[in-house]
Amino acid sequence: MSKDFYGEHSDMSLDPEYIRTLGYRIVDIIVRDIADPTRRPPFPPLQSPEKLESVFGGPLPRKGMDPEEILHTIEQEFLPASGNHNHPCLMANVLTGAMPLSGLVEALVGSIKVRPTTWRNQPASCQVEITVARWLGEMTGFSSNAAGYVTSGGSWANLVGLAMARVRCAGWNVRAHGCAGHDPLTAYTSEEAHSCFDRSVELMGVGRELLRKIPTDSGFRVRPDLLEDAIQNDLEAGFRPFCVVGQAGTINTGAVDDLNALADIAQRYGLWFHIDGSYGAPAALNPEARHLFAGIDRADSLCVDPHKWLNTPFEAGCILARDWSSLRDTFGLLPPYMRSQMGEAHDQYQHGFELSRTDRALKVWVALKQYGADRYARMIAGHMALARYMAARIGEADDLELMSEPVLSTCCFRYIPPGIHERTHDPLPYLNDLNRAIENEMADGCQALVSGTDVRGKRVLRACIASYQVTRESVDKTLETVRVIGRRLDERMRI
Ligand SMILES: Cc1ncc(COP(=O)(O)O)c(C=O)c1O
Repeated sequence: MSKDFYGEHSDMSLDPEYIRTLGYRIVDIIVRDIADPTRRPPFPPLQSPEKLESVFGGPLPRKGMDPEEILHTIEQEFLPASGNHNHPCLMANVLTGAMPLSGLVEALVGSIKVRPTTWRNQPASCQVEITVARWLGEMTGFSSNAAGYVTSGGSWANLVGLAMARVRCAGWNVRAHGCAGHDPLTAYTSEEAHSCFDRSVELMGVGRELLRKIPTDSGFRVRPDLLEDAIQNDLEAGFRPFCVVGQAGTINTGAVDDLNALADIAQRYGLWFHIDGSYGAPAALNPEARHLFAGIDRADSLCVDPHKWLNTPFEAGCILARDWSSLRDTFGLLPPYMRSQMGEAHDQYQHGFELSRTDRALKVWVALKQYGADRYARMIAGHMALARYMAARIGEADDLELMSEPVLSTCCFRYIPPGIHERTHDPLPYLNDLNRAIENEMADGCQALVSGTDVRGKRVLRACIASYQVTRESVDKTLETVRVIGRRLDERMRI
């Protein structure tokens, strides 16, 4: 280890000028990567664990290493084995690029170690988080005065939504007494809901089977009549319904439930109404799409993820509530070792589970300040237009089939070899295998990436256009890539 890296205060400190040199070096790595967004594919080629173990594994280092060598390893070895979320042909899951200034701000937050736990410790960070929640509430039409907490992502935010629902609607003091000895709690959502709801009810001890998955209509929207039937059946059978979860942009097709109908039902039965808008809620900014979200302002809580459609770096999910009391009623606690630092209304420790955590809101605040809601609205409208363009291209192709019309910015489709119906009477198993193989090949270092999912028992390819880097050319290129791979695999797998 060279003596020059360290200043005189302790043998762990670095000379400020040297920190500057390292910082510039990191900025150079970042900018080189962003300036050439197709240099790395959306997902890296499949990596062997042995190779990565040889680079990143090994014994615990006993002696330190030259920082420049470490950065060299990151540039030469870490980046090539990492997904490239800034790639213009990345349309898998709800993966999006990272707004550059927000990304750089992450380095600042990490370097000065911001912890938005208490107002006394980090008032600016607490205020930024409070502001971000309020802005997200306004952007989505949820409330112009929302309370909220920035989470690691949508999974966590949805868990918090259910936790608030349980505290408020179980009918007894769940925090003090738990659930034993009471009627079993039940929650209700669409069969199209994200798997994080299964995990949430598992973690909460509600149990996966007591999350009732309600069937959807032809547009993948939950059937309100069946939802109400399920609640009534459960009440008659001695269960204790506590929460209705609406979907505002499902993971599979981007469907948005009839939120007003769900709000009516929740209200009728005295249940909490939570909405998962992780992916879709920012589309309420687009005047053309706003009608889809009618009723969002009647929810008790809303999940919205800036690290999805707002293109901030990970981690940025957000749980919004109508006021602070439901968060505080769910998490508020004043341990003796925190007492002298706490007691202010804006202690975020009282509004979430974690004590120490990093500032996740500043990068969102920066992105919203930099671009403004109007520019985001234009980006989102552009993505929705691109999804319609993609659907039209799929409709024109003789070897592609559209499986769901885009509601927001997601298109489901599949590759169908021309003439397949002459080759077999029952093409479904073959088409499922073929499309799964296309999906796998694209995830192995290909220069375009969609993901796959099951829609009504069929394996389909799914393109979600939510990244600021996606263009019409990247849509064309992605479809062409699917067709080229589809043709090649069909030759190989042919029945
Ligand atoms: C609709 C929906 N809900 C929840 C989640 C989970 O969010 P996260 O990956 O941020 O935990 C996702 C992720 O794609 C999603 O699309």
